[in-house]
Amino acid sequence: MHRSTRRLTLRPPTQDDVHSVFAIYGDPATHRFNPAGPLKTQHHAAAMLKRWMVHWQSAGYGQWAIAERDAPDVIIGFGGLDKRPYGPVERLNLGYRFAVAAWGKGYATELSQASLDFGFAELDVPEVFAMVRPGHGASIRVLEKVGMRCIDTLDDVPGEPPSLVYRASRAQER
Ligand SMILES: CC(C)(COP(=O)(O)OP(=O)(O)OC[C@H]1O[C@@H](n2cnc3c(N)ncnc32)[C@H](O)[C@@H]1OP(=O)(O)O)[C@@H](O)C(=O)NCCC(=O)NCCS
Repeated sequence: MHRSTRRLTLRPPTQDDVHSVFAIYGDPATHRFNPAGPLKTQHHAAAMLKRWMVHWQSAGYGQWAIAERDAPDVIIGFGGLDKRPYGPVERLNLGYRFAVAAWGKGYATELSQASLDFGFAELDVPEVFAMVRPGHGASIRVLEKVGMRCIDTLDDVPGEPPSLVYRASRAQER
């Protein structure tokens, strides 16, 4: 359940993470490219955390709470793999959201690579997907750095340009 990368420690979220969830997901800066906007209340954060924990219970994996190995009690972000709807189909999705203070250190790339390795080696899935807004240069760069390629678009925001759908496949990785 707990795992580490070169600089990060990853663990399943717990109810005690609600303050960290709200600090990160309630910050407008972390939602600049998310049309839904930041979470408005801690109640919304608790509801999202509950959904993540239900996913862990049913699937055995899900969003990790992420900390630096040197400071394991300070949560700097959340991310990893979970099942999400892509229009009418459900896909294994790579997602991440880090506190602003943690940006620019390569952490999203490190988390993403660990997530793909986990998906291919341990979940034994053939493909992992990610969805990103077309103007989100930093997130697009992260996906491309871990070898994901844009394979499609998804019209998920009414009146706005479609999101980009990225994919990594095990065949391509190995
Ligand atoms: C997007 C996000 C995950 C990036 O995290 P990060 O840890 O800073 O990412 P990394 O340091 O691993 O890599 C970022 C890369 O994007 C590049 N980059 C940064 N800003 C950029 C921009 N505006 N346009 C293009 N590339 C950009 C960086 O230079 C780096 O590439 P490099 O290693 O080749 O120099 C982080 O900013 C975040 O959590 N944002 C809020 C939540 C969010 O938007 N999540 C994604 C939803 S799809």
